[in-house]
Amino acid sequence: MTTRDVHVGATTLAVTEVGDGPAVVFLHGFPLSARMWEHQLASLPSGWRGVAPDLRGFARSSGTPSARHVTDHASDVLGLIDAVGGPVVLVGLSMGGYIAFECWRQRPAAIRALVLADTRAEGDSDEARAKRGTLQRAAAEQGSAAVIDAMLPNLLGETTQATDPHLAVQLRQWALESRAEGVIDALEVLKTRPDSRPTLGTITCPTLVIVGEEDTLTPRAVAQVMADGIPGAQLVRIPLAGHMSNLEQPEAFTRALGAFLHAV
Ligand code: MLT
Repeated sequence: MTTRDVHVGATTLAVTEVGDGPAVVFLHGFPLSARMWEHQLASLPSGWRGVAPDLRGFARSSGTPSARHVTDHASDVLGLIDAVGGPVVLVGLSMGGYIAFECWRQRPAAIRALVLADTRAEGDSDEARAKRGTLQRAAAEQGSAAVIDAMLPNLLGETTQATDPHLAVQLRQWALESRAEGVIDALEVLKTRPDSRPTLGTITCPTLVIVGEEDTLTPRAVAQVMADGIPGAQLVRIPLAGHMSNLEQPEAFTRALGAFLHAV
């Protein structure tokens, strides 16, 4: 597994890669980085190339101007797809899923298949936007630690919280690799993202929806909305996992992904 810089316009994405073949591009959740995909990259079936960027403003990536809207990330990701050669299987967890919807809207031909994990089609409610504003102020005053500390109790399922305290420490370390400015801008991206429900019926590529059964941030009901709205979508529920299903139950997640790739 190697990490290299890929230049897309004025953005430099740190991209972790493994394997050879058609690409599977992994988009991370907020406020993390490509590191969250290490298990899936290491376990990718042979014949596939795994590609995982730190998105603009996160961890080892940089870019000016910073991403303030989901369209900014989508243009980076589409530039990355051009660089690695599409069409790709696009895997997005939570924020990564919001960006995957935007990539589909902008250029469906770049996407061979979609995996939408622990994400939602709905935009933010007024209450959610207000909470993002509070987090932006906290990050400006206290740095990115304030954001990850506020989010951690909701990122992991109750089983993981009881059995694997190390994972919370790991997530915190990864989140602290991002500067406060990047995290503040990313909160703007989350706050202003559009409602993707009208997009669901337009998705014509093979789609897998994954949800951790203990996910409280993007629970089973919102996964069901996506699975019902996307023609032919398949829904896989991961037992004993919360919002970070790929990290909490990596084998089960990777198995579901592998079976999907086999069928694509
Ligand atoms: C994520 O995991 O990317 C975040 O929970 C997304 C969000 O807060 O909407």
